[in-house]
Amino acid sequence: MIKRMRGLPSYFGGKRTIAPFIFKYLPKPTKARPLTFLDPMMGGGSVSYFAKMLGYQVIAGDVSYRSWLTGKTCIELKSCLLPPYYVFLKENEHEWLWTHYKDYFPNEEITRFLDRVRQNVRARGDREVELFFYMKLVSRMVPFMLFGKFLEPFKKRVIQDKNQDLARIAAHKLWKPQAINLLNPERFIKNTLESTAQTIFDNGQENTFVRQDVFKTLAQFAGNANAVYFDPPYPGTQGYDSMFWVDRLILEDDKFEDVYGAEFTDKNQFKQNFERLVKESACVPNFVCSIGNWNHEELLGIVRETRPNAQMLVVKHDWLQAIKNGAKGDELLIIDSEEMQ
Ligand SMILES: C[S@@+](CC[C@H](N)C(=O)[O-])C[C@H]1O[C@@H](n2cnc3c(N)ncnc32)[C@H](O)[C@@H]1O
Repeated sequence: MIKRMRGLPSYFGGKRTIAPFIFKYLPKPTKARPLTFLDPMMGGGSVSYFAKMLGYQVIAGDVSYRSWLTGKTCIELKSCLLPPYYVFLKENEHEWLWTHYKDYFPNEEITRFLDRVRQNVRARGDREVELFFYMKLVSRMVPFMLFGKFLEPFKKRVIQDKNQDLARIAAHKLWKPQAINLLNPERFIKNTLESTAQTIFDNGQENTFVRQDVFKTLAQFAGNANAVYFDPPYPGTQGYDSMFWVDRLILEDDKFEDVYGAEFTDKNQFKQNFERLVKESACVPNFVCSIGNWNHEELLGIVRETRPNAQMLVVKHDWLQAIKNGAKGDELLIIDSEEMQ
């Protein structure tokens, strides 16, 4: 199951590896008992996607543009029909990346290749799924987007000479995993199309993604949800939108719209917003929340005011145990589940 999730674009702070633990104590849907899973801060989509694989009806939300593309395609859609690879490679005059972002790409050939694909995606009708496909192409071509260092032009880190040949770039240690893409763009496009099509599947449910604030999603959907998962940005960390700004601009230069929501990264607002999350989801029978960068006993205390049976669990590699002091660095979950009682 984890393997199937590789089709999702990589996401800094994503919960891909702990997704199985999140569901370990939650009731599972069956034909006789369908269940709705609510993930109102979906991020990279790994938890919603896992829920979709388990057969839940998934309602996901997030304020970010990248999440919207992932949610609209990987969560909402049941299938997709992408055109053959050569459609994306037609010649054209498009120069958006070359004009504005040449410093972020290794050389002119790669930049112009992505510009051609981009123009052909933009010229077509099925915008969401093709933009999603394009986002996957871009993020697999530009290693700096995968993990930290989002804000620094690529050239400062590795490439000084735009005319370096591909073989030399591919031999660079940072680029080795990407080398196959750099050296064979056609195969790269074919592989990415294939993985995009495989990522989108039908789980027999009507799943939904909404691009809006978590509290609006709760007001709209909490009443019918069987389980809710919260994964707010940790207080004191960098906001996700600023990390993905390059991504967003590369994807959509013309009508890009910001959506704002309650602030969780700000330490002065975190506790109050956390209390609100707990309160406004009190009607959902099963609750899971990822926490970090804050006194975990204090957060457990807040949850227990509404959910006296809530437990704190630490996910450490491939096992789960009750929390001990000093479990720093591990993934902490607060869970209140019908199955645990
Ligand atoms: C830690 S990430 C979630 C990661 C996700 N669980 C995964 O596995 O990829 C937090 C997400 O919360 C979103 N977010 C932050 N504030 C929000 C708000 N007020 N309403 C909705 N989403 C919000 C951010 O855009 C970000 O995508």
